[in-house]
Amino acid sequence: MPDRPSIVILTGAGVSAESGLATFRGPGGLWEGHRVEDVCTPEALAADPALVHRFYDARRAALATVNPNAAHLALARLDAAWPGDLLLVTQNVDDLHERAGSRRLVHMHGALLSALCAACGHRRDWSGDLPPATPCPACDAPMLRPDIVFFGEMPYDMDRIGDAIARADLFVSIGTSGAVYPAAGFVRLAAQAGARTMELNLEPSAGSHNFDDRRFGPASRLVPEWVDALLAG
Ligand code: APR
Repeated sequence: MPDRPSIVILTGAGVSAESGLATFRGPGGLWEGHRVEDVCTPEALAADPALVHRFYDARRAALATVNPNAAHLALARLDAAWPGDLLLVTQNVDDLHERAGSRRLVHMHGALLSALCAACGHRRDWSGDLPPATPCPACDAPMLRPDIVFFGEMPYDMDRIGDAIARADLFVSIGTSGAVYPAAGFVRLAAQAGARTMELNLEPSAGSHNFDDRRFGPASRLVPEWVDALLAG
């Protein structure tokens, strides 16, 4: 391992769980009686924009009630102190990594606090509730949409993510079930590129067998322990 390894970190909903952001699947995996996979789709947005906006309005409102936890803060400390290449790739759409201070960060599934014009690609902040029929300020298209990668759509920043993984010496996956691609396949790409791979998760995930090292427990304990050891050299 070089003295300044290039690091890629992947986070999922588990890194925000201890902040109180429950996964958006309630008991039985439904939200207001709908399967999440049926709400977070371009078809649902076209058919019932009010329903889709209500789903994201609820998740955006929850953000105001939570704070970054020790895992987010440790990753921000690493971001600030690490002299080598580092990229934090999050599947999460919350803003807890930003609020903790992470800068070298990409949201591959989009962000709750951003609205997107599907017609011209214009983005604007989305802090309050945005009525479904808000026109685009740049091209006047009739409706902005959540800047979220819906099921079946291409995740964001895949070129930048692929480049970082190709150069990685260390790939660390934190709080993700390894159930959703392409993120679930990143560990194998990193291993093929010669990186050492580690999983930090509450329990074994669907992809645990792909990792060189696995540590199980709450992210709020495992992540600070890992970051402190890494920075101590
Ligand atoms: N500390 C560490 N890991 C945790 C904690 C915790 N406190 N709590 C839960 N976990 C782990 C769970 O064991 C699980 O493996 O976090 C993982 C969360 O898995 P999911 O709920 O499937 O979330 P994620 O992997 O991020 O989902 C990926 O699927 O729903 C879509 O687009 C959505 O980005 C999401 C994607």
